[in-house]
Amino acid sequence: MAGLGVNIDHVATIREARKTVEPDPVWAAVEAELGGADCITFHLRKDRRHINDRDARMLRQTVRGKLNMELSLDQEIVDVAVALCPHQATLVPENRQEVTTEGGLDCIAHGERLAEVTRQLLDCGIVVSAFIDPEPDQVAAASEAGCNAIEIHTGAYANACTPPDGSLPHPRDIDDALQAIVTGLEAGLDADLVVHGGHGLTYHNIAPVAAMEGFCEFNIGHCIISRAVFVGLREAVAEMKDLVAYPGEV
Ligand code: PXP
Repeated sequence: MAGLGVNIDHVATIREARKTVEPDPVWAAVEAELGGADCITFHLRKDRRHINDRDARMLRQTVRGKLNMELSLDQEIVDVAVALCPHQATLVPENRQEVTTEGGLDCIAHGERLAEVTRQLLDCGIVVSAFIDPEPDQVAAASEAGCNAIEIHTGAYANACTPPDGSLPHPRDIDDALQAIVTGLEAGLDADLVVHGGHGLTYHNIAPVAAMEGFCEFNIGHCIISRAVFVGLREAVAEMKDLVAYPGEV
């Protein structure tokens, strides 16, 4: 049964829209845990556009379950992770112009730097995951760099389900994207990596992915925080937790 990681960056994004102190992503983490989240995920970006250093420190002190920090390969942020010592670090690409994380980390192009950062994090006892596109070559490069885990980028599947241009979804595109996820998942399991998934997953598209055997955890943010506006965060997390844990049964 896969677990649920709740990405709380989106709460900090709302706070930063007014440059004030609320809503507090640390409160959100508590509510998410009360709703059944197995993991709290946050991304400390170099530009600190949502989560800031105070949030990161307080999350480390407050979260009772697993804490997963997303970070780029930038040494300034790696140093923060080393000092903070979250349970898991997920290495992601970062680019200033993007609205959210776009493609997966290119573990082939950045293999040497990835191995160096992975070593620094592993030395602190942090579990290291790489956020990658579901391609066997990327899985192999993450494994070669010493990562313990991968997070498969499910964004292409999400876009196939809800095309960003507003067109109707095509069943063949959805099947192809699901098959790509299966290929990445199997490559990860064959390489003895722990396999997570995330990006763009929603209450409406999670079922076929959650039904795949072998995923350890799904990291989900935007749709949970969106639903929380209407039903409250604890309830929104509990609903997603059921969909992740019992796909097809709820
Ligand atoms: N996993 C990673 C690595 C991410 O960067 C994000 C987006 O912050 C997510 C999961 C969650 O994606 P979403 O907000 O679309 O659910």
